[in-house]
Amino acid sequence: MLFDIRPKISEEDLFNREKELNEILEALRLGEGIILVTGIRRIGKSSIVNVALRKSNLPYVIVDVRKIFFEYGNVIHRRALFSAIADSFTKNMKFFEKIKFKVKDVIGRIKGFYVSEVGVEVEPNISSKLTDILEVIDDWCFRNGFRFVVAFDEAQYLRFAGGVRYDGIFAWVTDNLRNISIIFTGSEVGVLRDFLKFDDPSAPLYGRHYREVVLNRFNKETSMEFLKKGFEELEMKVEEEELEEVVNKLDGIVGWLTFYGYYRGIQGLSHKEAINETFEKCSRLVLEELQRVIEPSRRRYGAILKAVSLGYTKWSDIKDYVTIKAGYITDRRFSMLLNKLVKYNYLIKEDGQYKIPDPIVKYVLKEKFQI
Ligand SMILES: Nc1ncnc2c1ncn2[C@@H]1O[C@H](COP(=O)(O)OP(=O)(O)OP(=O)(O)O)[C@@H](O)[C@H]1O
Ligand SMILES: [Mg+2]
Repeated sequence: MLFDIRPKISEEDLFNREKELNEILEALRLGEGIILVTGIRRIGKSSIVNVALRKSNLPYVIVDVRKIFFEYGNVIHRRALFSAIADSFTKNMKFFEKIKFKVKDVIGRIKGFYVSEVGVEVEPNISSKLTDILEVIDDWCFRNGFRFVVAFDEAQYLRFAGGVRYDGIFAWVTDNLRNISIIFTGSEVGVLRDFLKFDDPSAPLYGRHYREVVLNRFNKETSMEFLKKGFEELEMKVEEEELEEVVNKLDGIVGWLTFYGYYRGIQGLSHKEAINETFEKCSRLVLEELQRVIEPSRRRYGAILKAVSLGYTKWSDIKDYVTIKAGYITDRRFSMLLNKLVKYNYLIKEDGQYKIPDPIVKYVLKEKFQI
């Protein structure tokens, strides 16, 4: 069902992403080591990775790095990462059986992992490292003719791993483990790039080949089709004009369109109520996430975002606004904060002008956010 608000799993529920889906599948078929899936929040990164991996018929695990980060107190512990890997193995047991990937055999070879009645588990005092685990999987895959995929969803959070340098680990994996592909997704695209550092000669992943699949927002026509098809599935008739209003307000971000469809089609709200509810509920999601991101320099980040939401688009105008609201700031520091917000994808820079790419973020900043 298109208006299901959880990340999609099956291909028939994934609307209009054939091209991007095929690109991921092709990269896997060619045995490419690193695939990046990028795009702003709620654009469908997790969904496309779910669908691609199922469709690929390759064994895989998906690790939600953002979830680990927030659940375990803003740090990525090795053990939490392993537990997430174990959970993903458990979740995919039936699928593994279908594709004849022998989980028990593989897990049995990894020190510190075991299979219990409830699934794959990790010993409390596990001493293995991620490289040990992947080496065992790679070896098994090599001997049994498989390619294994490890997907790190919102991978930029791996930069908070204490002393562990995951970029170095990934470089080692791509150089040495030929039967493993890694997928990284990231909504904070600039942050993900800064973490992986493909262009930095002194960084471990420098010069490595990677494929990037970028998810863009739907254009107006596609957004309309998405809504129409979603309501058709529910056998509901809706006015064209109403859908146009929705698309104008939510701007081709499939996650927000899905929320509207859900409130209207599944919860039974009227058109107006569904729009309001989408803005209200989604605002809360956005605000919560935004607060976390800007926490290190709340007043200044807040003032920058507020300025852009109020229509200031030029560097100097935004800086003037920030100076009035948050006090003196040097040009250098101001530029740094502004660029960070671009890296976090809260702002985009187009023709020298700063804009907020997401209508809900814009609404939140204008209406709900106090500096
Ligand atoms: N191509 C699609 N067709 C139908 N629904 C989609 C599609 N892509 C995403 N969705 C829906 O949009 C919402 C956001 O999707 P998803 O969680 O996959 O995006 P994301 O980019 O991973 O978001 P986040 O930045 O929050 O991690 C979900 O409700 C999902 O069901
Ligand atoms: Mg996601």
